[in-house]
Amino acid sequence: MVSTATQIGSFTFDNCLMNAAGVYCMTKEELLKIEQSQAGSFVTKTGTLTARQGNPEPRYADTNLGSINSMGLPNHGFHYYLDFLSELAKHKDSKSHFLSVVGMSPAETKTILKTIMASDYDGLVELNLSCPNVPGKPQIAYDFDTTDQLLESIFSDYTKPLGIKLPPYFDIVHFDQAAAIFNKYPLTFVNCVNSIGNGLVIDDEQVIIKPKNGFGGIGGDYIKPTALANVHAFYQRLKPSIQIIGTGGVKTGRDAFEHILCGASMVQIGTALHQEGPAIFERVTTELKTIMIQKGYQRLEDFRGQLKYMA
Ligand code: DHB
Repeated sequence: MVSTATQIGSFTFDNCLMNAAGVYCMTKEELLKIEQSQAGSFVTKTGTLTARQGNPEPRYADTNLGSINSMGLPNHGFHYYLDFLSELAKHKDSKSHFLSVVGMSPAETKTILKTIMASDYDGLVELNLSCPNVPGKPQIAYDFDTTDQLLESIFSDYTKPLGIKLPPYFDIVHFDQAAAIFNKYPLTFVNCVNSIGNGLVIDDEQVIIKPKNGFGGIGGDYIKPTALANVHAFYQRLKPSIQIIGTGGVKTGRDAFEHILCGASMVQIGTALHQEGPAIFERVTTELKTIMIQKGYQRLEDFRGQLKYMA
């Protein structure tokens, strides 16, 4: 019997696969489709203090190798998602979930977290420090001083389980510096990675999305090597109490296997879920289990983080 069950903090999941924030998670109807699929959990669209329209359309495009998006954080406001998750949690056979949030300023982020703290929601929260698409707002986690100050301020009064969604880093010194900051705080997890920010895809002579003259976050096949590097770099550097969620370039069981080998405890699917729909969870789960059977692994713990180096 092989199992793809996993844990994040004190929460258990009967499957390690789930959606990535931003994909199939804007409305209750979409979230319920993930809930009813083979996915072990879902994460909501990142909710802001108040609802947002986002950027002008077209703002998402699939390509042969992945996707580009500049959504601009369209969402129904974090209360919509918080209320929905609190409602779902009343059903005793409900899965555990992730509530993704961020404010448009540190003060707004604090206000959101204060409201969650005071609510009866006691599931996981994923704080999004890596949206690349709001004009004039940099990806928070590329500014280490701001990130350190924000986490210090948050953990001075927030005591529910919290993790952060990170942008990809591309330098060993940045892995070292970022991990040193994260290790100061009681984070439950880090999620590596968000899209590679501000790429450009061209068709004939024209960009393929409207906002920001075509610049947007890149997902899919393009980003798997970067995602695996970030998962493994943080797996090597973070204290064991901070778990890793692996996201980026997952569309087969082999891709999920590689993320887990690099140290991921949960694996999220974004672009490929957008392209294939929620039935992808059944396919990828079956493929992952087939690999595990071939290799004689029964549980994720049998190979998680066991990436082999050359002598
Ligand atoms: C959006 C994109 C992201 O990659 C993200 O982390 C948050 C928001 C967006 O444009 O909506």
